[in-house]
Amino acid sequence: PYPLYAELRRTPVARQEDGSYVISTYRELTGILHNPHLSSDVRNLAHPMPLYEERTTPSFINLDPPEHDRLRRLAMRHFGPPHTPGLVTGLEPALTATVSSLADGFAGKGQIDIVDDFAYPFPVTVICHVLGVPREDEPRFHVWVDAIVNSIDYDPKTDPKEKLDNGVQATKDLHQYLGGLLEQRHARPTDDLLSRLANDDGPDGRMTDDEIVSTAHLLLIAGHETTVNLITNGMLTLLRHPQVLQRLRNEPGLVVPLVEELLRYEPPVHIIPWRAAYSDITVADTVIPKGSQIMLMLASGSRDPNRFHDPDRFDPDRRDNEHLGFGSGIHLCFGGPLARRETQIALTELVRRLDRPRLVTDPPPYRRSPVLRGPIHLHVEQGG
Ligand code: HEM
Repeated sequence: PYPLYAELRRTPVARQEDGSYVISTYRELTGILHNPHLSSDVRNLAHPMPLYEERTTPSFINLDPPEHDRLRRLAMRHFGPPHTPGLVTGLEPALTATVSSLADGFAGKGQIDIVDDFAYPFPVTVICHVLGVPREDEPRFHVWVDAIVNSIDYDPKTDPKEKLDNGVQATKDLHQYLGGLLEQRHARPTDDLLSRLANDDGPDGRMTDDEIVSTAHLLLIAGHETTVNLITNGMLTLLRHPQVLQRLRNEPGLVVPLVEELLRYEPPVHIIPWRAAYSDITVADTVIPKGSQIMLMLASGSRDPNRFHDPDRFDPDRRDNEHLGFGSGIHLCFGGPLARRETQIALTELVRRLDRPRLVTDPPPYRRSPVLRGPIHLHVEQGG
């Protein structure tokens, strides 16, 4: 039940020793996420993210209006509903085929790692497909994404420098690769996302090549570990609630509200650590001075008893469920429709294909990151 969050919520806006602020209650979180003086521009932060210096063009998750809005709109036109409802629907056969071929690997295996054998390879394959990366190049993407994701929580006090260096090198290699692919798409466009971004002439003009590369990078990174964790947290939660797992077998439509409840109850993104105050911001009678770093405890907001009835109960029949799993405001997750559908398909297939699954260790080992929450492995026994 996350007792630390309950403790934090007693002081909705708390000042830390280093001068940063922590916000942990639902009302204050949604309020500040819609405040135009809250900045996502990492250049405004006292402690920028380690990889930031290596990037030439920041991606729009780390930009403020008007740049953020222009780039988000340009990407959104081709990406998600309601702009192109076809994209996620059009991906359906690819999603089902990918999940099904991963689950084929379960046959005859007594023990499966839901992370390595299933959840981890799935989203990166999907994004490669969306971007238009040829199949034979996909394995390189798995390696790059792995190195970049690993280096995001690099801590100079405890981690070997190699961890950061690998991330930096992978970023360079990925950008060089994407730049090359983009050149080909300029010359011979197809209907993939890179071609569409390269040839778009909408009311906002066109993205530059640098902007396209950093947008593709963002989609890969923002959409990978998060989706892996939602699928894995989902399977873990189902195994801890066998009656819900059984219901899902008999009632396939349950997967839709179930994934929504997972985003509230065991969300992949617990904290947004990189916001800054442009000018003084008043929240719950506390003035947060201009320039302060602000940490947003999204997962705490989604467990706030002042907003959700019986918040520590996993209830897939919950009605009023406006969780913060995808954030809120202008940076609301752009990949939400895709992530939801990927997770719905993945959980349905896992439940269908695993034979009497049982957890090997509970709790499983977790990633160290306080920002992204999910097991590093989830060993499940089946059959027998
Ligand atoms: C933004 C969560 C999957 C692309 C966000 C934010 C959250 C989030 C909390 C807000 C960040 C902020 O306010 O600074 C998740 C979760 C996912 C998921 C929990 C999976 C379960 C995806 C996927 C994609 C994606 C699949 C793309 C393919 C993005 C982008 C943004 C974003 C581009 C930045 C939006 C903006 O700045 O306007 N996501 N995400 N996400 N997400 Fe996701």
